[in-house]
Amino acid sequence: MKKTLLITGGAGFIGSHVVRLFVNKYPDYRIVNLDALTYAGNLENLTDIENFPNYTFVKADIRDASAINEIFKEHQFDGVIHLAAESHVDRSLKDPNVFIETNVLGTANLLNAARELWKGNMEGKRFYHVSTDEVYGSLGDTGFFLETTSYDPQSPYSASKAASDHLVRAYGNSYHLPFVITNCSNNYGQNQFPEKLIPLFIHNIQNNIPLPVYGDGKYTRDWLYVVDHARAIDLVYHDGVNGETYNIGGFNEWQNIALIKLLCKQMDEKLGRAPGESEKLISYVKDRPGHDRRYAIDASKINKELGWKPSVTFEEGLSKTIDWYLQNETWLQSVTSGDYQKYYESQYS
Ligand code: NAD
Ligand code: DAU
Repeated sequence: MKKTLLITGGAGFIGSHVVRLFVNKYPDYRIVNLDALTYAGNLENLTDIENFPNYTFVKADIRDASAINEIFKEHQFDGVIHLAAESHVDRSLKDPNVFIETNVLGTANLLNAARELWKGNMEGKRFYHVSTDEVYGSLGDTGFFLETTSYDPQSPYSASKAASDHLVRAYGNSYHLPFVITNCSNNYGQNQFPEKLIPLFIHNIQNNIPLPVYGDGKYTRDWLYVVDHARAIDLVYHDGVNGETYNIGGFNEWQNIALIKLLCKQMDEKLGRAPGESEKLISYVKDRPGHDRRYAIDASKINKELGWKPSVTFEEGLSKTIDWYLQNETWLQSVTSGDYQKYYESQYS
């Protein structure tokens, strides 16, 4: 094997797409997927590659420093792609501490383990931290987030991600740890847990449950198909420059209500419903506290320097996403039973 690579959070939404891409594309890399399998982690996401000879799964919690140190000693990683995190803003508003523990302390544990393992020779090593555009805060009607935009996180989730970004840069500066960071916009696609807007609303439309639109529905997000994010991560891991940050985005801004109407239209067509039927489910509800008004990424750096751009249009990606959820009802049913119901009631009742 040429390299041993640790991917954290590989049983989650984006992580599973990254694991699949690397396991298939690099048969000479040993890919170790480390995940605690929280409510958001699901090994069902990876059944197609679970028996590949270059793939190993390790169940572990990044909050457990001694377990992480042991795993680094055992596997002698050459590189880390760190995605494990608590990732949902609404949950961070209800229970911030687990976000601080996993996103901040968990990242620090990985940085310490990498620093210890690589201390004699950092040549060819790389710590890749996967982060979010939410660290930049909220935009007005115009403008874009650049890599140089000041941090201004507004929720416990984004504050914990911002803190972890700062730690990664500090380890680069203080200990010469070779790192790259990417800050990406909203992802969508198959295997996303149905607490996030698109899969939640697909599930609700299918089951004739009201669609809870926060506030006036005029909040704006920049949407990227998850497979294109995984392609960008592959490119940055291999060709990115140490110490650099790259913004990743879809060049694809949508006001929530416009996106929801497009989703309803596509769902009507796919479910054989009369035009306008699903839109009747739209229900404006109390706003998310501290709701960021608009995110929009300027992704020209990764485009110019590394030649990356999205390959899937939004209409095409959304259609593929809906098809996947409609064809994978068992997956959706298994993740929406049990604790999901309790979460749904506490969030929306
Ligand atoms: P997700 O919630 O779907 O998956 C997170 C994964 O991390 C799960 O498999 C979970 O089991 C694992 N995990 C959580 N806590 C852990 C712990 N203490 N130890 C080990 N594993 C743990 O998240 P996602 O949407 O796939 O996001 C992945 C990463 O990408 C996160 O770092 C997130 O901040 C970042 N990101 C997400 C988006 C997005 O739109 N979803 C956009 C930009 C950046
Ligand atoms: O921008 C990147 C971020 O995108 C990631 O870092 C986060 O991990 C990811 O969760 C996502 O954060 P958002 O808060 O933007 O995503 P969410 O799907 O929760 O919400 C998208 C928009 O839809 C937001 O304006 C809130 C709104 N919304 C969301 C839900 C769940 C609703 O109106 N109703 C809802 O029920």
